[in-house]
Amino acid sequence: MKILITGSSGMLGTALCQELADAYEIIGLDVREAQGSGLKGLTVPAGRQVKCDITDQAEVARAICEISPDLVIHTAAYTDVDGCETCPDKTYQINAAGARNVALACQKCEAAAVYISTDFVFNGRKAQPYIEQDKPHPLNTYGKSKLQGERHFSSLLVKYFIIRSSWLFGRFGKNFVDTILKLVKEGKELKVVNDQVGSPTYSKDLAKAIGNLIETSSYGYFHISNGGSCSWYEFARVILKCAHLKDVKVRPITSEELNRPATRKSAASERPRMSILDNTHYIQTVGKPLRPWPDALREYLEEVKIR
Ligand SMILES: NC(=O)c1ccc[n+]([C@@H]2O[C@H](COP(=O)([O-])OP(=O)(O)OC[C@H]3O[C@@H](n4cnc5c(N)ncnc54)[C@H](OP(=O)(O)O)[C@@H]3O)[C@@H](O)[C@H]2O)c1
Repeated sequence: MKILITGSSGMLGTALCQELADAYEIIGLDVREAQGSGLKGLTVPAGRQVKCDITDQAEVARAICEISPDLVIHTAAYTDVDGCETCPDKTYQINAAGARNVALACQKCEAAAVYISTDFVFNGRKAQPYIEQDKPHPLNTYGKSKLQGERHFSSLLVKYFIIRSSWLFGRFGKNFVDTILKLVKEGKELKVVNDQVGSPTYSKDLAKAIGNLIETSSYGYFHISNGGSCSWYEFARVILKCAHLKDVKVRPITSEELNRPATRKSAASERPRMSILDNTHYIQTVGKPLRPWPDALREYLEEVKIR
């Protein structure tokens, strides 16, 4: 099976390229060069990555149809949640129109598809973890644009997986774990929100889970995250503990105190307060859950040699 991975230089895209390379023929597609070039086993092999901007409809159709993959995993996106609030045109162009371009190309060359979505399609006002049938109600521009992307895939294609995940950390991408460790190194005061709860997810574990799921051909919507949940503040404390930095002080704050563009008072730019994803459908389909997030975190810290 030939698999094309969009966003192959990003955090999840890189993990997917690594995870699936032994079992499938992998071709990457990204607007930029692969990260980690020259590092053993970390990227798509030379000549197996296509440089392409998904906002260019003709170019995407040409690239994907020329490659003619059996499956396209669409991870490419504009993922800076605060940036999305300040640049909504760019956001919709990449996350909604870009996703439509990829879905149209899949339709044209009859490829099955995986669309990677987010917990941010929900408003966070539910008391229990979100199931796939819950009605999406995104609060911010990023979530709205990603929901539009979902809808393009579900309306244009028959063979599609829509996978929602949350709070990704891993190599080759901006992530919370690295940010916390960097702030400690710089001696900055740590203030972390304690009123948003979700499930941190290791990009490597999500890539493995996607590999398991595509084997089943059980198309549809799936929620996939590492086990357990926490607030960003609790996440920070466990990061510090696992990195042997438990004496470093971290102060819990509210989203209002943080006052980022994506957390300001206007309803259009909030972040969900509770976005735990119920993984039951995935577990029933594949047979086992992802490991608890603290175990995944420890492996990540080992990988980046922090422990
Ligand atoms: N990160 C999270 O916490 C999280 C949580 C849930 C779901 N997700 C979803 O998971 C997916 C992967 O996330 P990630 O964190 O791995 O993202 P990422 O590291 O930002 O990777 C996205 C990749 O897409 C590329 N890209 C952006 N615009 C493009 C364009 N116009 N054409 C082609 N490629 C383009 C990016 O290049 P540049 O870097 O040069 O822009 C980057 O290499 C995304 O769909 C995201 O919405 C992420």
